Amino acid sequence: HAVVHAAGVLDDGVLDSMSVERVAGVLRPKVDGARHLHELTQDLDLSAFVLFSSLAGAIGGAGQGSYAAANAYLDALAQQRRAQGLAATSVAWGPWAEAGMAVDGALEDRLRRGGMAAMTPELAVKALQQALDLQETHLAVADLDWERFVPSYTAVRASRLLDEMPEARRVLEAATAGGTT
Ligand SMILES: NC(=O)c1ccc[n+]([C@@H]2O[C@H](COP(=O)([O-])OP(=O)(O)OC[C@H]3O[C@@H](n4cnc5c(N)ncnc54)[C@H](OP(=O)(O)O)[C@@H]3O)[C@@H](O)[C@H]2O)c1
Repeated sequence: HAVVHAAGVLDDGVLDSMSVERVAGVLRPKVDGARHLHELTQDLDLSAFVLFSSLAGAIGGAGQGSYAAANAYLDALAQQRRAQGLAATSVAWGPWAEAGMAVDGALEDRLRRGGMAAMTPELAVKALQQALDLQETHLAVADLDWERFVPSYTAVRASRLLDEMPEARRVLEAATAGGTT
């Protein structure tokens, strides 16, 4: 038996426009839903407990404060389950193409300009199978164009988050070298 939690709601907005109700509406399907599935199944011998998380929880996203928190909860729940000896894989997905909440022409264009292309479901599912085979607990799966993503992600301020990623370091070092000559 396996559990796949994929419920989620988007309700993006700047902080000023947030209310307790709006934040609760985003947290409910992820935090309460995943917690209930965890509690109700923790005595079962599951082959997988998959949580559909988002890159927003791992690296942030414009207007996605509540959605980021909801997904970070899923990532933490996976870590907690694994520490308890239970199956758990939380995948922080980048945008999917063809169907789902990220299929929106303007949004896809904005993400692509920022270096994030939408993945075909076939590719994403292949990555998920690989993660399950390797018993990964928390991973991010996204189709990034590092040459575009890194400058856009660090445009406002530098981020230590990318320091240990070889692809990002290459782009940052090339930019620094370019800037000093
Ligand atoms: N698509 C992407 O690019 C992407 C990227 C990163 C992460 N994710 C994550 O992947 C998951 C699936 O995304 P998607 O694109 O398939 O989203 P979607 O098309 O918007 O579907 C979300 C699903 O969640 C269900 N849902 C919402 N609130 C619920 C609740 N309280 N209880 C039970 N079900 C609830 C909805 O059911 P109803 O239709 O009945 O309301 C809907 O079937 C989500 O958790 C999302 O955060 C998606």
